[in-house]
Amino acid sequence: MRTSVIVSLATALAAHVSHAAPTDKLAALFSPWDLELIGHSGAHPFREYDATPPPPASTGAPAAPTAPAAPAANRHNSNTTTCGAFESAADDAPMYTAATAVFVVPTVSPRPAFNWTRDPTVTPRIAVSTGVDGISCPEAVRAGIYATVFQNGTQQHVPFVEFSGRVYAVRIASVAPGETVRVRVSIIQDDIVNIDWSNLNRTTEAFNKNVPTNSNMCGKSVSWFVEDLVPSKALPGDFFAAFQPVHFSLLEGSLIDGNTTHFDAATASFTTENALCKVDESGTELVISST
Ligand SMILES: *[C@@H]1O[C@H](CO)[C@@H](O)[C@H](O)[C@H]1NC(C)=O
Ligand SMILES: *[C@@H]1O[C@H](CO)[C@@H](O)[C@H](O)[C@H]1NC(C)=O
Ligand SMILES: *[C@@H]1O[C@H](CO)[C@@H](O)[C@H](O)[C@H]1NC(C)=O
Ligand SMILES: *[C@@H]1O[C@H](CO)[C@@H](O)[C@H](O)[C@H]1NC(C)=O
Ligand SMILES: *[C@@H]1O[C@H](CO)[C@@H](O)[C@H](O)[C@H]1NC(C)=O
Repeated sequence: MRTSVIVSLATALAAHVSHAAPTDKLAALFSPWDLELIGHSGAHPFREYDATPPPPASTGAPAAPTAPAAPAANRHNSNTTTCGAFESAADDAPMYTAATAVFVVPTVSPRPAFNWTRDPTVTPRIAVSTGVDGISCPEAVRAGIYATVFQNGTQQHVPFVEFSGRVYAVRIASVAPGETVRVRVSIIQDDIVNIDWSNLNRTTEAFNKNVPTNSNMCGKSVSWFVEDLVPSKALPGDFFAAFQPVHFSLLEGSLIDGNTTHFDAATASFTTENALCKVDESGTELVISST
């Protein structure tokens, strides 16, 4: 039951404060000036995952029977509008307290089939993010970047954070294609999450703040995604942004027992048909490219 999960997470967090990074404790609650509201989450729900589960990973845990709307396996990728990887803790496994990602910011372009005259209100845009929960537990906290391409050919790359059902652009940090971003999202109390977003090329471009959540986090899943943010798909490849391969060079989930799990790209499943994006492996990296 979710209640027992919440209680045990709270108890376990209290018992394991020593595992929290000291900076998490010192980070201030965000100020409204730090962020600009740009939307509400739910426009790109996780139910857009393909219904067909991939083959179970050898270390995989069964899907939680209490979450029928959730994807049916613990590791998955998709050829719909979202692809990447996620891991969910089994009911009896230690819960996640943090997700970390390091990736290089890609450039984006409209697909060849995209027609600005026919679709003037569509602006090709992708999100690259990492986060905690939002799969079997509805509260999602995520952070990453948006990459948008405008009709005049210019690109805009914006750090974003998502919490309490809202999506914000980060005003106090900036990023450009080719720069490396590190994002760590850590549950520090049931309803307080630390978001540590940093541009590793320009260390003054950073956001390290605590944010509130609408309901309690349950620490059941960690995720690393590339999403196409155009909400409807006409024909394969039609509306969407194409993007340079996104290299996730670090995909880590921190567990409440103090251990860390690394996503193993070799266990990801693959797709190329009608693909918005393709999950691939390159050594220990997770590489997501558009086709
Ligand atoms: C783009 O869309 C407009 C309006 O529907 C159409 O007239 C034009 O032929 C299209 N251009 C291409 C290259 O398909
Ligand atoms: C390109 O279009 C965007 C969005 O309309 C605008 O913000 C930007 O200033 C434009 N850039 C140039 C060089 O015209
Ligand atoms: C960011 O830093 C990395 C590592 O130092 C470097 O390889 C890369 O070229 C830098 N990117 C930009 C846009 O400066
Ligand atoms: C996780 O950490 C505990 C102690 O904190 C240790 O006993 C256990 O072996 C670790 N598990 C793994 C899979 O490393
Ligand atoms: C990709 O999408 C098609 C059409 O939606 C679907 O039939 C197919 O099962 C999907 N493939 C994978 C590997 O998810």
